[in-house]
Amino acid sequence: KQIDMASGTRGVAAATISLAVLLLVFCFSPSTAAAAAVPSIDATRTRHLPLRHGLLRGPESVAFDAKGNGPYSGVSDGRVLKWNGDALGWTTYSYSPDYSSEACTASLLRPETATEGHCGRPLGLRFHLKSGYLYVADAYKGLMRVAPGGGEATVLVTEVDGVPLRFTNGVDIDQVTGEVCFMDSSRNYNRSQHEM
Ligand SMILES: *[C@@H]1O[C@H](CO)[C@@H](O)[C@H](O)[C@H]1NC(C)=O
Repeated sequence: KQIDMASGTRGVAAATISLAVLLLVFCFSPSTAAAAAVPSIDATRTRHLPLRHGLLRGPESVAFDAKGNGPYSGVSDGRVLKWNGDALGWTTYSYSPDYSSEACTASLLRPETATEGHCGRPLGLRFHLKSGYLYVADAYKGLMRVAPGGGEATVLVTEVDGVPLRFTNGVDIDQVTGEVCFMDSSRNYNRSQHEM
């Protein structure tokens, strides 16, 4: 926005520089602090939690619940999955009101890109730890909330000040006040119109 409003190349250059400074502040100070405490990631302690079904893909955000269970992640057919440990693997945790496995399970003839507008595409995830509600930023459905225990999500927000949400993307919660913040990546284009 800053760049759009700046008139002439000077303004653009100034805006670019201030953005670059901000990026430096945001990108480098945390990793410098982290680097002092943790020199590197110990690769022997990482784990791969593969999705079972061949055509499922695109795990996006990751979240843990108040008990530290999970992770939870949203996938390409519109569901949020929960990791239940090695014996059970990933199971369905929640889905949008329009989800059904018949309509939303991808096949070679019907890829998820053809159904995600209807089935939903969960991107950002965050639990409100005190209440156990899971907040879901769904690219097509808007901001949704899932009651403790999972199941069908309730759509909470589809527009702001009369402007429809087109690409709801990230969500986070102030765990002290319960305030929920979410992000809409575009006022003009939905997810299927972006090159991903
Ligand atoms: C994305 O937006 C375009 C243009 O408004 C529309 O034609 C298309 O149906 C939308 N796609 C989905 C999946 O909602």
